[in-house]
Amino acid sequence: MTEVFLEGVTKYFGKVRAVEDVTLRIGHGEFIVLLGPSGCGKTTTLRLIAGLEKPTRGNIYIDGHVVNDLGPRERNVAMVFQDFALYPHMRVFDNIALCLKVRKVPKDEIRRRVREVTELLEISDLLDRKPTELSGGQKQRVALARAIVRNPSVYLMDEPLSNLDALLRVKMRVELRRLHERLRATTVYVTHDQAEAMVMADRIAVMNNGRIVQVGTPNEIYENPLNLFVAEFVGTPPMNFMSCKAGVSGGEVFVETEAFRLTLPRELADPLKGELGGDLVLGVRPEDAIVTKEAPKGVEAPKGRVVLIQRLSGTLYAAVDLGVSTITAFVPSTARVGRGDEVYVRINTAKIHLFDRGSGKALL
Ligand SMILES: Nc1ncnc2c1ncn2[C@@H]1O[C@H](COP(=O)(O)OP(=O)(O)OP(=O)(O)O)[C@@H](O)[C@H]1O
Ligand SMILES: [Mg+2]
Repeated sequence: MTEVFLEGVTKYFGKVRAVEDVTLRIGHGEFIVLLGPSGCGKTTTLRLIAGLEKPTRGNIYIDGHVVNDLGPRERNVAMVFQDFALYPHMRVFDNIALCLKVRKVPKDEIRRRVREVTELLEISDLLDRKPTELSGGQKQRVALARAIVRNPSVYLMDEPLSNLDALLRVKMRVELRRLHERLRATTVYVTHDQAEAMVMADRIAVMNNGRIVQVGTPNEIYENPLNLFVAEFVGTPPMNFMSCKAGVSGGEVFVETEAFRLTLPRELADPLKGELGGDLVLGVRPEDAIVTKEAPKGVEAPKGRVVLIQRLSGTLYAAVDLGVSTITAFVPSTARVGRGDEVYVRINTAKIHLFDRGSGKALL
């Protein structure tokens, strides 16, 4: 059982605040992804867990014991770096075996363990090559093999796929996740790629400016972003945002942007009543705004003109100019629309998001 717990962890480099008051419990066997933009403190957090940095404040626990003063070796964690960090002059076998040699593991056992792990990663035929004779994907596997062969209790991975081409990245995501299903070791995985995080994570911790701003399953993060930052960072195409006001009229709660007005379902309206009147931001995911050619009956649907059609995998999205703002909306396969067409956008009011502009906090 290996559980990692960060309690109020803060790290300053001189005056630079890299990580601020991070509290996060990583359960045994959990695959947690630290997600956030460049410079938000992901690598520093990983290095703190690895023992490569010491926290300025706060505690790091592994299985209930404070490890602040333990070095990397004593923590039994393995880190996989973005650039793989293989030794160029050593053969693949020696790259993988080195950490076991250093620990004076008997030769037979080293051979057995290297064989096992290279079979697992399907690189048994590469053992005599030097790193320069490997493709990016093969180097990646060697770097992983080197981590796995140590049988660590925690894996720390810092953007391990970012040096691979797009297609290989997508394949390796699936492979890494499958590997995790087999090994079931506690894993902290860093990426700035939200799509990668969504595919791989049991839970995602979204970071911004050194802080964790939300922790949740990929679904929770996607469906219920707690603030504007998370809402904007996660999802492709990104969520649409529009300034709006909210109010009550005839007992119904409505939101009003410059382009359109929506009446909210009652179950959304009730929790909102105390929050009306401020400067708000309406958030609508593209798939919750649906393009129709005919005016939908019985619901408010803004009218606009298609300025662009975008295909994302099998799905079409239209950028619809509503006069004062443009909204990215889902185009059902049955709706034959093209650029320049006049269309209606039916917004699924049950799925809208509402944020306070000042604090960025989600109200819905
Ligand atoms: N050794 C260091 N000395 C001084 N500042 C540092 C050091 N390491 C990191 N920082 C600063 O701490 C902040 C967080 O850096 P960190 O490397 O953790 O970000 P990151 O989220 O991993 O970014 P990226 O996605 O670009 O790798 C940044 O402002 C960075 O400049
Ligand atoms: Mg980094």
